[in-house]
Amino acid sequence: MGELDGKVALITGAGRGIGRAIALALAVEGAQVAANDLTPVNLDETVAAIQSAGGAAASFPADVANKIAVQAMLEAVAEAYGGVDILVNNAGVEPHAQLMDLGEWDWDRTLAVNLKGPFLLMQSVGRIMAARGGGVIVNIASIAGRAHGLKDRSAYVASKMGLIGLTREAARELAAYNIRVNAVCPGVIATEMTAGLRKDPEMMARWLADIPSGRLGEVSDVADVVVFLCSSAAAYITGQAINVDGGKVMS
Ligand SMILES: NC(=O)c1ccc[n+]([C@@H]2O[C@H](COP(=O)([O-])OP(=O)(O)OC[C@H]3O[C@@H](n4cnc5c(N)ncnc54)[C@H](O)[C@@H]3O)[C@@H](O)[C@H]2O)c1
Repeated sequence: MGELDGKVALITGAGRGIGRAIALALAVEGAQVAANDLTPVNLDETVAAIQSAGGAAASFPADVANKIAVQAMLEAVAEAYGGVDILVNNAGVEPHAQLMDLGEWDWDRTLAVNLKGPFLLMQSVGRIMAARGGGVIVNIASIAGRAHGLKDRSAYVASKMGLIGLTREAARELAAYNIRVNAVCPGVIATEMTAGLRKDPEMMARWLADIPSGRLGEVSDVADVVVFLCSSAAAYITGQAINVDGGKVMS
């Protein structure tokens, strides 16, 4: 018996990286996985990996920044699985540019994917969870959204700070419906998103010098904390933003 047997988990941005690891980890605990990403092709490997390990998964492609697409996706998930018990808002984008060069499109898109997407999903899935008697939401923010910040990422930092604030407000409001809402704030995790940084020995040395654990994070480091937050062991934890960063940010 898994800790999450019988639960339906919707994970956005589950086609690769941290989202894929979270989808696999929740499936190992028995959750039926609704895996979202922009296109079905992105999701094939995630769904196949879960199914070949004996788990249940299906793809539900949609752009999380598009309200109509999100509604259609939730209808498809409801038809396939009957509802949603766990929502992980993981999809994210991270344009690099100095503030004075950042294009309006990049600003709008970053805020739309990283902040409006979680809002749209929490609003609609919140209603579904309330009707089912409760649920758990985990928002993947970043240490960039803590006091730490991140150079040349103004849209990203603003979106992740916003997501932490939104997490707290959602936790306050949705507790009345037995829905817990927390954020996880990864440090530098080895994924496509950080490929550029990991190829730059000077930047790597600078980051590593500032991480007490002495290494970058693995996707499993984040997925394990998400599983914990979704489990009954975390029943009294809501409204928190938990750093998973080897001790880089201690606040
Ligand atoms: N990798 C890190 O070091 C790190 C650190 C802190 C926070 N994070 C956060 O963790 C999350 C996952 O990061 P990752 O490193 O796995 O990134 P990634 O780029 O490897 O994967 C992100 C996934 O999200 C999908 N996606 C993007 N826009 C989407 C949209 N509009 N709708 C649906 N799916 C969409 C992409 O197709 C991709 O599969 C992001 O929110 C990111 O900001 C990552």
